[in-house]
This record gives sequence, structure tokens and C-alpha cells, in this order.
Amino acid sequence: MGITVSAPAKLFLLGEHAVVFDGTCIVTAVNSRLSVSLERSDEALLTINAPDVRLTNYQKPMSAISEQFDKADASSFIRSSVAVFAERCAFDGGLSISTRSEFKREYGIGSSSAVVAATLFGLSQLFGAEFSHEELLHMGFEAIQRVQQLGSGADLAAAIYGGTLYYENRSPRTVVALPVENLPLVVIYSGYKASTVDYVWEVGKLRDRHPEVINPIIEVMLTIVEQGRLAIEEANWQTFGDLMNIQHGLLHALGVDTSSLAHIVLRAREAGAWGAKLSGAGGGDCAIILTDNPHIGTILEDMNDRIAKLDIQPNAEGVRLEI
Ligand code: MEV
Repeated sequence: MGITVSAPAKLFLLGEHAVVFDGTCIVTAVNSRLSVSLERSDEALLTINAPDVRLTNYQKPMSAISEQFDKADASSFIRSSVAVFAERCAFDGGLSISTRSEFKREYGIGSSSAVVAATLFGLSQLFGAEFSHEELLHMGFEAIQRVQQLGSGADLAAAIYGGTLYYENRSPRTVVALPVENLPLVVIYSGYKASTVDYVWEVGKLRDRHPEVINPIIEVMLTIVEQGRLAIEEANWQTFGDLMNIQHGLLHALGVDTSSLAHIVLRAREAGAWGAKLSGAGGGDCAIILTDNPHIGTILEDMNDRIAKLDIQPNAEGVRLEI
């Protein structure tokens, strides 16, 4: 008997990049989900079917699942999650795992973190291990580090806990659920996919070259997160929008803005949005707009064929059992 679980995608509201340097951020889970079905098998083999990342009947002996993790190898995040779980909760035989995503990987809204969160949550359900969200976060962080050696874990926290979170990437990692009801957010795909890892590296190198300039920018970003936390708690969209605009300007200064993202952001502000910014690592992926203008999607989609309004809402539920 197998089970199916799911985890949500995520968006960064404030604090991206700054959170990587032992910082803080605000992230929200969105109502577009990735499901993972898991079943035990007698043979000691890991079988993966993940059509969204073109894996069909991929098989690896359980004894070899930790070989050669690579972020370009679509099986890596599932293999590393199973490996981390098996170290804490040993089991005999093998596993068959299949995934299905409601969102496209190129949107850059957290497919890796959702797959890790859902796989670990699914395994804990399958084996009755009952790990807390905090333990899942700890294990998921480890699984992601084994594959890509970097990342704040904020996207993973959103996938596990759900809702809108204030996240502290310091030891011990802290997650605070923010009281958000109606966050008036519109999500726009910029038409281009970017590699988070490459952009995190680039920002790190820029900081190494110009620490006196980049460190104060990161400090201001962290102040923005603190102010943003207060604004979101008070549902003060004017202030939250100002802070989004300033964060976008600072991300531009870090070199992660693109012409497509910049156009979306500026056009949204001209159309009267409270705020607009890129969300996540930059270089492409999505922009977010804080607005109550119901026509903003059409205005932006008319600019360019590649741009698309995504039909997703923030503040969604975290990992959950489906069947
Ligand atoms: C990427 O979605 C967000 C970054 O802050 C990286 C991270 O938090 O791991 C750029």
C-alpha cells in the first residue's frame, strides 16, 4: 500500500540573498503543489518516475543512492532525501517514488525544495516515523546541502510549514508564522528561467570583491525584512509595497535584475501597484506585485509574449497527506 503527499511551491517576499549570509527573510507558500507518491518494494532498489523532470523508470540500488549528487541530475534531490531519512530511520527493501507537479520547473518557485519536503514528509508517513516540522527542516536542509552545497533553507521552510513565514537562517534556524489573511499579490513569470545556485555564487563573489559596499547593502536588506514583518502583521500594504520597491532596487544593485524583470516591475508601479519586485535569486523566474488592480496581469502580458500571469495565491498550506 502506497501513500501520496504534497508540498507547496514558494515565493520570496523580502530578504532574498541577504538570508544566505546568516540573515532573515519573509517567504510565503503558494497554492500550486508538487505531489509525491511512495510505495515500499521487496527488492532493494530505488525507482523514480518524475515526468516533470524527464525521469522514467530511473533505478538505482539502495546501496548506491548516495553516489554522485549533482544539481543537474534530476534524481539527486530525491536520492539525497531518501539517504538522509534512511540514516535516521533504517529500513529493509526498496522504494518506488513518483512525482507530479502542478507548476512548471522553469518558474523558479521552489520545485527542489517542494520535492525534498514532500519526499521526507512522505517517508515519515510511510514508516510511521512522525518527525516534527522542525526535524523535517533539519533533515531537508541536510539533503539540499549534499546536492548543491548552499542555500538558506527558507524555501524548504515554506514547503514544510506553509503559510507566510519570517525565517532566520542562524543557528538554531527559527521559523515564525506571520498572521496574514489576504495578501494582495500577483505573480508574473518573466519568461526566462534562471539558476538559483549560479546567482547565489555570483552575489557571493561580488561581496568578496567589494565587502565594504555589499555588506552594508545586505544590512539594509535585513532592516527591510524587520520593517516588512511589522508591515505585514498590520496589513499595511503602502509600507510593505515601499519596502518591496526598495528591496528590488538593492537586488538590482547586486546584479541579479534583468531587463524583463525590470520592465515588469516598473510597468506595475506605473500602473499604480503599491510595490513590485523580483522574487528569489533573480536572473529571470518571477516578479511579484502588491496591488488590488484586477487588470494588472493583462497590462503586463500585453507587453511581451513570454510574460505570463500565474494563477497562484500566497499563504498556502504546507506539507500534507493526500491519500
Ligand atoms: C532563492 O530562491 C533565494 C536566495 O535567497 C537563495 C536562498 O535563500 O537559498 C537567493
